[in-house]
Amino acid sequence: MCGIVGYVGSKSALPVLVEGLKRLEYRGYDSAGVALVGNGKVVVTKSKGRISVLEHLLDHDDHSSTGIGHTRWATHGAPNDINAHPHSDATGRLALVHNGIIENYAALRTYLGGLGVAFATDTDTEVLAQLVGHFYDGDLEKAVKQALREVRGTYGIAVVSAEEPDLVVAAKNGSPLLVGVGEGEYIVASDASAILAHTTQVIYLEDNEVVRMSADGIRTTTLDNVPVTKDVEEIEWTLGQIELGGYEHFMLKEIFEQPDAIRDCLRGRIVPDEGTVHLGGIADVARELTRSRRFIMTACGTAWHAALVGEYLFEDLARVPTETEYASEFRYRNPIIEDGTTVMAISQSGETADTLAALKEAKQRGATSLGVVNTVGSSIARETDAGVYLHVGPEIGVASTKAFSGQVVVLAMLACYLGRRRHMSQSAAIDMLQALSRIPEQIASILEQNDACKAVAEANVEHDNWLYLGRGYHYPVALEGALKLKEISYIHAEGLPAAEMKHGPIALITEQMPVVFIATRGTQYDKIIGNIEEVRTRGGRVIAVATEGDKRIASLAESVIYVPDTLEPLQPLLSVVPLQLIAYHAAVCRGCNVDKPRNLAKSVTVE
Ligand code: G6P
Repeated sequence: MCGIVGYVGSKSALPVLVEGLKRLEYRGYDSAGVALVGNGKVVVTKSKGRISVLEHLLDHDDHSSTGIGHTRWATHGAPNDINAHPHSDATGRLALVHNGIIENYAALRTYLGGLGVAFATDTDTEVLAQLVGHFYDGDLEKAVKQALREVRGTYGIAVVSAEEPDLVVAAKNGSPLLVGVGEGEYIVASDASAILAHTTQVIYLEDNEVVRMSADGIRTTTLDNVPVTKDVEEIEWTLGQIELGGYEHFMLKEIFEQPDAIRDCLRGRIVPDEGTVHLGGIADVARELTRSRRFIMTACGTAWHAALVGEYLFEDLARVPTETEYASEFRYRNPIIEDGTTVMAISQSGETADTLAALKEAKQRGATSLGVVNTVGSSIARETDAGVYLHVGPEIGVASTKAFSGQVVVLAMLACYLGRRRHMSQSAAIDMLQALSRIPEQIASILEQNDACKAVAEANVEHDNWLYLGRGYHYPVALEGALKLKEISYIHAEGLPAAEMKHGPIALITEQMPVVFIATRGTQYDKIIGNIEEVRTRGGRVIAVATEGDKRIASLAESVIYVPDTLEPLQPLLSVVPLQLIAYHAAVCRGCNVDKPRNLAKSVTVE
């Protein structure tokens, strides 16, 4: 979604801003813009479309050393040139970029309109820019604070003024912002990727904090002017991790990174031969977790699918009642949080607005909270009582792949950890953890079948409707396989528990309908074979993911991708990989923009 970058220092701001905006592209956007401050004025350049379009419009001879930039993902107002950020006040001496939503923008617009302010755009952001302009008397920081005290909603903002050319003022509430601390320069951004090329030293801003950045230094205060001392932290991620490194797309790179990503996720956390799990991030709440009588996992998108695998793992291995809730539903349905409830927020970015809000709601109602998050220092990570980071490295491709695997691995470790404190025998834990430690090499062997997955995609890509069916642990995998296909190839796909097929979807089956069965050996193997027969009888095109050596499936399915055997609770970690590859190749085959699918955002920071 929207991205912010702002620079102040001794260099020309423009190249830093453009490079930063390019690094933010992966989040999803529909327009972009830049404001540069110098020679007593603010020059705003913005346009609909890709950053490459904006680059043609920019004055590359402008060497101003202060500026702000933005990638916009439209919420209020169409994605066009005029609604793109930065937005200015009526005098044109200020420019502001904003992530988030100003909820009371209509009331503020009416108020300012009554004072004679004329609006040029349909956006909530312009209202904020005009409000800052309304209060501005030569002190930008003061005006920003006055304006923000009138605002309801979420924001990450960066503001500049022609009258204070060496200054960027930034503030946040609910949308992430961090400041990169370089040598005589500061870069504010919504995402570490826009900073990493310049420095790994960062300061994370908290809600209701305002930072004043000039080449001489930075000062952070609260909205109420209380000074705040900030720690400078080190970002673990490297530039190489956010670059393509020879792969055609980030999604493919991240699929292939899964063996190493899972090794990193497991490192130092399990002792398979003892059946023990060590998770430093939950030490402070170990008692509460062990005593929890109920777990609620809340998430969105792919993370919700991982959470659903987690629900099965927690109930199966730890024998503790667990539910998975869409964050957007959970937060608004007056949820019941009894004593002894732990709410877990699962999120790659750690910034998903609904997940963050659900977490806050649960905490307010007295739940213990636990984060399963990839991005270190993100809002969800900091809002939870305790948590486990994925450590799978940055995920840039909009279609989540290695984060799903990391989430399932963390949930499997947590299930074993809790299981051992409840009913799970040491030998069962040893079996599970030994199997878990073999997963990276098993995924590597599945990746060797990339060409076979490509062939399946190519053979079926002209069909516009696909079904994905699985039972038990493979039901969430069916959902995830269908989501992967639809989000990047725009083929309509539905995932279902295989038994539900008979209650409606079977009516859709024709020779034009590829049906992907996740049919590895396990407790429900015979049942799923029955479902495959039902589809075959009706002429459906059966694609199966099966266990290596399964000859029976080969005689039933049109195409089979084989995965190694593992314990049933861990099978999703293997069976999902061919589905990721099939979706990837289908999208490439259809000429789709794999890493930047239409209308989608990597990090959904608005409701
Ligand atoms: C967006 C992304 C998905 C992701 C979901 C949840 O929809 O496109 O890939 O699964 O948000 O994101 P999170 O960062 O909370 O895991």
